[in-house]
Amino acid sequence: MEYSHNQYGDVFADIYDDWYHDLDNITDVVEFVLQLAESSAVLELGVGTGRLAIPIAQAGATHGVRVVGIDSSQAMLDELRAKPDGALVDAHLGHMVRDMPLGPFGVVLIAYNTLFNLLTEHEQHECLQRSARYLTPGGHIIVDCFVPDETLSDQLDDATHRSTSTGEILSRWKVDRDAQVISGVFTQVSRDAPNISRPYSVRYATVAQVDFMAHEAGLVVEQRWSSYAHDVFSESSVRQITVYGIAPTSSS
Ligand SMILES: C[S@@+](CC[C@H](N)C(=O)[O-])C[C@H]1O[C@@H](n2cnc3c(N)ncnc32)[C@H](O)[C@@H]1O
Repeated sequence: MEYSHNQYGDVFADIYDDWYHDLDNITDVVEFVLQLAESSAVLELGVGTGRLAIPIAQAGATHGVRVVGIDSSQAMLDELRAKPDGALVDAHLGHMVRDMPLGPFGVVLIAYNTLFNLLTEHEQHECLQRSARYLTPGGHIIVDCFVPDETLSDQLDDATHRSTSTGEILSRWKVDRDAQVISGVFTQVSRDAPNISRPYSVRYATVAQVDFMAHEAGLVVEQRWSSYAHDVFSESSVRQITVYGIAPTSSS
């Protein structure tokens, strides 16, 4: 079956906040984003359940910061809209590249591996290029994604991934090294109910490859951290939080 762009969100929406509630210190994310945005609008691509966009909108409201989001999954947006203050986010259903809301935005946030939900280099590059087009002068793009582990095995078979309130989660995956695509399945095993399988695919890119796509989109690296708390990025970091800005032209 072909992987459609709304599949990830539709398959993970009901458990997303339960599984990923402790992924980030939300106060750090909010401060990081609002410091860059100053008082200009923020766009989150792949806004999901509003895990980040809602707290950014709550804190930004006092400075007049408008928060816009787009997601291809209606199920994810239903979760967002059902939350208190969900209405603070101007959330749109659509493809984050093809239907990207028009700017200008002071910050475009591409959080938690969302860039890698685009399954080809071409789409990832186009995403950065369009985001750059909709920035305010001096605006920023934040790319937050994992740093590929070169030692990752080609295949994993049903290893324990985590325990949740609803049971144990097993993880299996296969890596296509040429396409740089990891195709995996999380299987939720519970004693009293049938197993639930949640498939996903991500197209990973190295730090240098993301920088190259950004460079081709006319962007330069302004900052790179390993967390939203400004922890130093090093060769051993497993996550990059990189801030890109528009490259100065030679005449400026
Ligand atoms: C890993 S989740 C991140 C959600 C949110 N940014 C966060 O940090 O909690 C990726 C999100 O991107 C959405 N997504 C995946 N592909 C998309 C596409 N082509 N266009 C729009 N949204 C997409 C998924 O539905 C999902 O909500």
